[in-house]
Amino acid sequence: MAYQTKIVDLTHLPPADGILSSREQAFYQTLRFPKRRTEWLGGRFALKQVVGEICSLTDLKQIEVLAQESGRPQLIISGQEGSLSYSITHSNGFAVAAASVTEKFLGIDLEKIAHRIEAWKEDFFHPDELTQDGDEFLTALWTQKEALVKLLGTGLSLRSNEVCCINGAPRFAGRALKIYEELGSPALTVTTSALIPGFMFTVAAGTATDAWA
Ligand SMILES: CC(C)(COP(=O)(O)OP(=O)(O)OC[C@H]1O[C@@H](n2cnc3c(N)ncnc32)[C@H](O)[C@@H]1OP(=O)(O)O)[C@@H](O)C(=O)NCCC(=O)NCCS
Repeated sequence: MAYQTKIVDLTHLPPADGILSSREQAFYQTLRFPKRRTEWLGGRFALKQVVGEICSLTDLKQIEVLAQESGRPQLIISGQEGSLSYSITHSNGFAVAAASVTEKFLGIDLEKIAHRIEAWKEDFFHPDELTQDGDEFLTALWTQKEALVKLLGTGLSLRSNEVCCINGAPRFAGRALKIYEELGSPALTVTTSALIPGFMFTVAAGTATDAWA
């Protein structure tokens, strides 16, 4: 699995007009809540830096990260859709972006380790996934699900039991399985780490099958 990541501290962001294109700025102006504005900008700043490094571009305005209706980011480099895979996440003062030249599919998620009530566990996880317990394990499991949902590109529209991760192995059902098969059933790798102390971070990545190469 080969990808590059960038972590951005949301308390140290450059001014928006220094990094956003006019199209991005037009969307940014529509965001009303300061937290959402900061996260949106931070995620873009992170992804633009990763892509700038991969593509040797220094003018971050040439790298646009627009938003599709589903919420999925859409990367435009010098006016053209590129062939990179990429993903954005933000949580509790940090934004992280990842991009890859070699992985066809990518989804990432960052979550602060926190204690959650029992009902949350029952609502969001299939019993098969609960091979361990504890805040760290459950937060990690949550990031794995979210990273997989982003890789599939569906966001909120899937039920949590349609996307499971059992000891690091993804298992899809229902609509998630259909979407996964439409992508060519790529072999997926799910890797979780403590990228930032006190947080869990997962990268789900898949390489293209022949049909997609
Ligand atoms: C997309 C989703 C996973 C967002 O997760 P989140 O943990 O709330 O937020 P994160 O900060 O990690 O990620 C947000 C980023 O995901 C990206 N994203 C949003 N929708 C996406 C989609 N359909 N596909 C891929 N990426 C998407 C965006 O880049 C977004 O940041 P931006 O709007 O600033 O560009 C969304 O499905 C969600 O809010 N889920 C909430 C819980 C849930 O029911 N999960 C189901 C688990 S199976």
